Amino acid sequence: MTDKETGGDGFRIEIEENGPYIVRGAPPLNIETITTDADGGSRDLEQGASFPLRDRARLCRCGQSQDKPYCDGSHKTAGVDLQETASFAPIADGAQRIAGDKMVLSDNESLCAYGRFCDVEQSVWREVSIPGQKHEDLTKSMVRHCPGGRLELWDKATGDSLEEPLDSGLSLIEDPSLGGLSGPLRVTGNIPVVSASGAAYEVRNRQALCRCGASANKPFCDGSHASVGFTDGLTDSEGSGKDS
Ligand code: FES
Repeated sequence: MTDKETGGDGFRIEIEENGPYIVRGAPPLNIETITTDADGGSRDLEQGASFPLRDRARLCRCGQSQDKPYCDGSHKTAGVDLQETASFAPIADGAQRIAGDKMVLSDNESLCAYGRFCDVEQSVWREVSIPGQKHEDLTKSMVRHCPGGRLELWDKATGDSLEEPLDSGLSLIEDPSLGGLSGPLRVTGNIPVVSASGAAYEVRNRQALCRCGASANKPFCDGSHASVGFTDGLTDSEGSGKDS
């Protein structure tokens, strides 16, 4: 495979029709827990237990496996509709653009993974418009943490992307401030995601893939894990230590 098909690190995620994610190239996989400030605002992601993968590991995307994060075949009897519904169009095409002081914020709401990093102190949509280094830094931090890539920043003067490259890897989002909720599979560092149809989604630095089975924008997370109360039971785990 070429670098473009697998990403520079040789990683790639393929979606099996009505089945799991097939992860090629054994990227690192860790728990990441959303940490909050005194006011309950999402502030950071704290790395937790690791789950080593072998090449072609199968990760659950129906939410029903008894061996999460791995697939145990439960999708065959779970009755969860795993049909992909997301657009293949560039994310920028479906985004609103909000011109701020020095930066432009683009917002494609269909990719909201409900990480709530955009609501610290005041919302990112307002923060981007306020002059000053403090507000610029906070805006960048909010956008960098936005797990699904709903929010992106652009230089207002040049139009260049201000995306900060992340290392390639996967993480299992945990959200304890919402009563022990679990969230999507966070995918960082331009790992290609390929549909069961063989078509590739736009390669992006930050992506969030649904692992609860309830998203209306599959394979991407749309925040539905919060309304269905998805929990993966991994928060006390030390990591399985086994390859899947
Ligand atoms: S994990 Fe977020 S909608 Fe399924």
